[in-house]
Amino acid sequence: MDAIDVLRAKRDGVPLGADQIRWVIQAYTDGAVPDEQMSALLMAVFFRGMTADELAVWTQAMIDSGERKDLSSLGRPTADKHSTGGVGDKTTLPLAPLVAACGVAVPQLSGRGLGHTGGTLDKLEAIPGWRADVHEEAYLQQLRDVGAVICAAGHDLAPADKKLYALRDVTGTVESIPLIASSIMSKKIAEGADALVLDVKTGSGAFMKDPEASRELARTMVGLGEAAGVRTVALVTAMDRPLGRAAGNAVEVAESVEVLAGGGPADVVELTLALAREMLAGAGRPDVDPAEALRDGRAMDVWRRMIAAQGGDPDAPLPQPAERHVVTAPATGTLTRLDAYALGVAAWRLGAGRARKEDPVSAAAGVVWTAGVGEQVTAGQPLLELQTDDPSRIPRALAALEGAVGVDTDDVPLPLVLDRI
Ligand code: URA
Repeated sequence: MDAIDVLRAKRDGVPLGADQIRWVIQAYTDGAVPDEQMSALLMAVFFRGMTADELAVWTQAMIDSGERKDLSSLGRPTADKHSTGGVGDKTTLPLAPLVAACGVAVPQLSGRGLGHTGGTLDKLEAIPGWRADVHEEAYLQQLRDVGAVICAAGHDLAPADKKLYALRDVTGTVESIPLIASSIMSKKIAEGADALVLDVKTGSGAFMKDPEASRELARTMVGLGEAAGVRTVALVTAMDRPLGRAAGNAVEVAESVEVLAGGGPADVVELTLALAREMLAGAGRPDVDPAEALRDGRAMDVWRRMIAAQGGDPDAPLPQPAERHVVTAPATGTLTRLDAYALGVAAWRLGAGRARKEDPVSAAAGVVWTAGVGEQVTAGQPLLELQTDDPSRIPRALAALEGAVGVDTDDVPLPLVLDRI
């Protein structure tokens, strides 16, 4: 087979055959098809899209480039969740131990943040001693003993995606529904859970800014999950403003612990419970009430054991920033705008995120805010606190926040959960 024939066909709008797709994904993973030819094919897919049949084969080929895990030896149902990424979206942290406390094992292979969206592993690494790398044996043992693992994916999980995602990142081919859907779902299906809940974000801080595009991405991913035998549901949720009251690393761990202790911001609690109910229902436990496991401390107990199992000290003080800079409310009235993208960029510029995969992140950097959208504020009250280890980062973070806060504007906030697919 020849890569030029494959990319010419896609360029000209001719659907690819299953053999062509399987060959090109494997040959690219093995290094036999070079980046320049794959770049051309990705750009052709970007403009031409894929048929449902092409997408199913493409996704399966990405799964087959590595290993699909078998978790049947655990002897209990398994469920996982994936968020398409947002600002202040720490729900994985309380959710995994919460669902595990309800009797469903949660094998969560997570990623790191890139750009303005945070990464679960970066947040958890703010906990002194906590390690993201867990070997296969220890991973299964922790799922048996504790019921939840949040860790880095190994090299055998959809290796085609690692190469393809890095190439898409530098060729302007990230924002394509079939390429995003196949990238996410190949990894999630390969992870081996019985049920999957997708949190598809929409709004300024999300990949997909427009609700209709987010719904289409959700429908595409649910279709791929169901076709692969994974019970899959998607919630389309608001990312026009950030979630909770904190965006960063240690600050998001602190907020997650508040939720596990029965407190925390109402939107984080509501979304965590909504996702937990979907995971439990997908795993065959629709009658279990996760709110009970938050109230009676069982979820907190699993959190502590989950952190300790990966070397972390759940009682250790979290890193504190060297510098704090307060931004006050510009007027008295109802806070109607707190732009997710702007806050995400500010947290990133303060050191919470990275521009390139190899960059380090600062555990103590981030932004916290004292009021959420819809709440009353008074002119001059402290509204945002910028936290960083490096004061020279503050001016660029402030620049990102220009126009991000609005009082009594005509912005209409999205409902927290827009749709269920
Ligand atoms: N996250 C992924 O894993 N892949 C994409 O393509 C986009 C977001």
